Amino acid sequence: MNAKRKKSSKTSKFEIKESTTQYCTTNRVSSFESFLDNIIHGDNLLTLQLIPDNKINLIITSPPYFKQRDYGSGIGNEKSVEEYIENLKKVFAECVRILRDDGSIVFNLGDKYLEGNLQLIPYRFTLEVMKTFPVKLVNNVTWVKLNPTPRQYQKRLVSSTEPFFHFVKNDNYYYSLANYLNNGTKNKKPNGNNIGKKYYELIEYSNLTLEQKKLAFNELDNVIQEVKEGKIESFRMKIKGIHSEPFGGQDGGRKYQLLKKGFTIIKIKGDPIKRDVIECAVETIKGSKHPAIYPVYIIKELIKLLSKPDDIVLDPFIGSGTTAVAAKELGRKYIGIEINEEYCKKARERIKNTHKENPLGLIYEK
Ligand SMILES: C[S@@+](CC[C@H](N)C(=O)[O-])C[C@H]1O[C@@H](n2cnc3c(N)ncnc32)[C@H](O)[C@@H]1O
Repeated sequence: MNAKRKKSSKTSKFEIKESTTQYCTTNRVSSFESFLDNIIHGDNLLTLQLIPDNKINLIITSPPYFKQRDYGSGIGNEKSVEEYIENLKKVFAECVRILRDDGSIVFNLGDKYLEGNLQLIPYRFTLEVMKTFPVKLVNNVTWVKLNPTPRQYQKRLVSSTEPFFHFVKNDNYYYSLANYLNNGTKNKKPNGNNIGKKYYELIEYSNLTLEQKKLAFNELDNVIQEVKEGKIESFRMKIKGIHSEPFGGQDGGRKYQLLKKGFTIIKIKGDPIKRDVIECAVETIKGSKHPAIYPVYIIKELIKLLSKPDDIVLDPFIGSGTTAVAAKELGRKYIGIEINEEYCKKARERIKNTHKENPLGLIYEK
């Protein structure tokens, strides 16, 4: 396979040699720009070699587990753990090369028992990577699965965590803690559409004036949005004539608000400590045959933490397209690479049905 790049000195454009295109279903991949917002069908090592140095802001990925599944071809079914780690390191080397100096790489890896012996593969890989490449490990974020596959082991506990390793090239990596809303414990399920429903009814049937009702509906909409975005954990509303009035109180206090506006909203803030734990259920996508999908919620949190709008997010093992879906929802550009053609098609369909979210309230530093 000849996958050499032809770089012009002035632009970062290049051509893919004839023999490489058999790995890419899209013949639009003829310049770096045409990689953007695309799912490339191909082997990731060969495809990554076509990307110029220092281009990508964020790489988030989850390679196949060792000997867990047969994806048809690609990494994961090597004869030994050592060989598997070597293959992953080749991909990691390309990731380091194409990553901008202020960028981040996040690798999510799963472990494996061989003859009842836990291999600690994610940690062995990470130690190897830290020995071999000029990277620093910032965090090991633990995903706690709230619904692990039920198993009936007699002599071991059910594994229900997976690490997400965050690597950087130096200390000047982009980081936006303010936009990272996860606090490690409260993400059991995305909030449904029922939050605050009872309050809408109570306002409707209350004795508030039309003007007060309008204001109450407005403020209720806003506070529900804050819960959905994870800015606050929950809230309570008190409505005049329906809920009991608080004792005491001063001007500007809740009693005064009840009197003046006819209602008051009490916001309940969550744990402000941003911890290296994400509790989240394992997801399945309706109609998707992909067996190992990671949660959009986690990937969105990491994208918000480690990139800005319009940055480029790349996933060399894109699978069902989760990283691209998260990137698109958050207004980032994406590049996905996937060796299985069927998964590529499904991922493209999934992304087509994804829309950019309203980035209300997010803070970015240039
Ligand atoms: C664990 S899955 C990724 C799932 C993904 N995170 C998601 O949420 O859908 C790993 C994927 O890597 C793909 N893969 C394996 N080896 C590959 C290679 N050499 N190049 C590109 N893709 C590869 C597999 O086909 C599989 O879909």
